[in-house]
Amino acid sequence: MSDEVQRAVAALREGGLIGLPTETVYGLGADASNELAVRRIFAVKGRPSNHPLIVHVASLEVARHWAHSWPNEAEILANAFWPGPLTLIVKRSALASDAVTGGQDTVGLRVPDHPLALEVLTLFGGGVAAPSANRFGRVSPTTAKHVRDELGGDVELVLDGGACRVGVESTIVDVSGTSPRILRPGGVPKEAVERSLDRDVPLATAVTDVRAPGLLESHYAPRAGLWLVTASELPAELARRLATGAKVAVVAPSDVTVPEGVVRFQVPLDDAGYARALYATLREVDERGLDVVLAVPPPESGVGLAVVDRLRRASAPRGR
Ligand code: TXA
Ligand code: MG
Repeated sequence: MSDEVQRAVAALREGGLIGLPTETVYGLGADASNELAVRRIFAVKGRPSNHPLIVHVASLEVARHWAHSWPNEAEILANAFWPGPLTLIVKRSALASDAVTGGQDTVGLRVPDHPLALEVLTLFGGGVAAPSANRFGRVSPTTAKHVRDELGGDVELVLDGGACRVGVESTIVDVSGTSPRILRPGGVPKEAVERSLDRDVPLATAVTDVRAPGLLESHYAPRAGLWLVTASELPAELARRLATGAKVAVVAPSDVTVPEGVVRFQVPLDDAGYARALYATLREVDERGLDVVLAVPPPESGVGLAVVDRLRRASAPRGR
């Protein structure tokens, strides 16, 4: 057990906030049982207080304590994908306060697949509420440096667990109702969830009945304006943007050719590689002061579905 892990757990016990590495993105963690600590998360993120947080735990056994009931689908999915990039929405037990659940009668639970996170959660014993460690509406962090740059002064410490292996957030599956549905595509492919449950699991479309900021139109957004284009639309779109004098970046898989002189961010061809590179790439676009991003998305299968979802939200019109 490293000193860092012990310091992180001590900070949690004292009601402090920590930067917590997970396999998806870095979290902004606090003791989920400490209402004051949880409120600090909302203050630091600038997140509306009725938006629920995911409670991270060390094991399925601990997760059950946070649930009022544990449906069969929860059991199957937890066994198949935990530790891993899957969040289950279940009816909450008394452990889950209104501060964590946004006043809803359900709670989001996840066992992350990252050695440091698991060490912290195991030593801590309880639940750690952790949204992604970015300001509300912005790009999620995938390195410890991203967290320090964005929230450094507001956290007790940031555990450095390296670059996140998955790179996009967990898949959220709501198993609290009569039939399961996916509230947010993420690290576990929709196809894999459906195979495990041996049934279709639709994506939730209604934004009004679930308070998931990940479902808000504009989210995960860089400062630069982002547009989705196909590889064949790219040349004409590029010419049009460059003619306005804008500083244009292209984010595209390595097989897409781009004219010389354009800032080009090359993402891997495969969906998992694209996901891993996505957020760091969007941050770099902003660091380099670029105005416009033209992004060629991956196919919408596997983790590609989550990538396309995030790119669409990053491209939604914003009041800026
Ligand atoms: O991969 C992840 O899930 C990362 C890492 C840190 O674990 N966490 C993350 O947290 O993405 P956050 O807060 O940025 O997004 C959590 C999503 C939100 O859209 C939230 O509304 C939804 O989970 N959520 C949490 N509890 C919920 C509930 N009871 N009902 C519906 N949605 C819920
Ligand atoms: Mg987030």
